[in-house]
Amino acid sequence: MVSFSERLLDRLRHTESVVALTGAGISASSGVPTFRGKDGLWNKFRPEELANLHAFLKNPELVWEWYSWRRELIRNVKPNLGHYALVDIESYFSEFTLVTQNVDNLHQVAGNKRIIELHGNIMRNKCVDCNYQVASQELEAGIVAEEKKIPTCPQCGSLIRPDVVWFGEMLPEEAITRAQEAASAAEVFFSIGTSSTVEPAASLPYLAKGNGAYLVEINPDETPLSSVTNERFAAGADEVLPALAIEIEKMRSRYR
Ligand code: APR
Repeated sequence: MVSFSERLLDRLRHTESVVALTGAGISASSGVPTFRGKDGLWNKFRPEELANLHAFLKNPELVWEWYSWRRELIRNVKPNLGHYALVDIESYFSEFTLVTQNVDNLHQVAGNKRIIELHGNIMRNKCVDCNYQVASQELEAGIVAEEKKIPTCPQCGSLIRPDVVWFGEMLPEEAITRAQEAASAAEVFFSIGTSSTVEPAASLPYLAKGNGAYLVEINPDETPLSSVTNERFAAGADEVLPALAIEIEKMRSRYR
């Protein structure tokens, strides 16, 4: 049974401003591989061959094949109780922000509304040159499925790529700015299921704590962030978040 400190509960009782930063760990129990764990994707595949623009332009077929494999995997998984708990938690705080590094679309499927996608979304695609965007299912139903060739942009003819942030690329300016604003204003900041190693997302908890937030980590493994947190749950998000949602519901339900 997960227990929460009075300090955390007291903060949650009196604030509206809560931020949850999530990483691949929250989707682990849905069956989506993480990146750096023992079965992580980066232990099987080389990110420099698959998750950067140079690799894509050099071998678009290989990169498209890898993303199609990941999309197929993600199409066959569902949000877990950790994702659904964040949907309920969002409903109790008027200034709740979910900042995710995940591209697996599971927070969207679960039903969170105030989501900031720091690293894009694997179910979206975009042109490498112009602003054209297209959802995957439209694309796969059309171009790639029949001719098995790399889709090209109907506006300018350039290659279409997954709408995810690759290594060496800048994050969407608006997303990281909004995430930094939310982190600075947070009274409670949860870092959930992330190894806290990839910038600029990894700096958000420090920004929050530096502005007075109560910093909580939910991760079975220690991370570089662990030693600076106010409270740490060395357990899975799918276990801690439902218990947290129940505690918050007890405290903040309008019918009590
Ligand atoms: N609940 C919570 N945390 C978990 C769980 C779980 N059930 N299972 C694993 N974890 C933890 C792991 O211990 C690890 O610390 O989740 C973390 C996942 O870390 P990474 O695999 O590094 O994923 P993430 O932190 O999201 O990576 C950040 O790096 O490769 C890029 O763009 C990619 O968005 C990704 C970014």
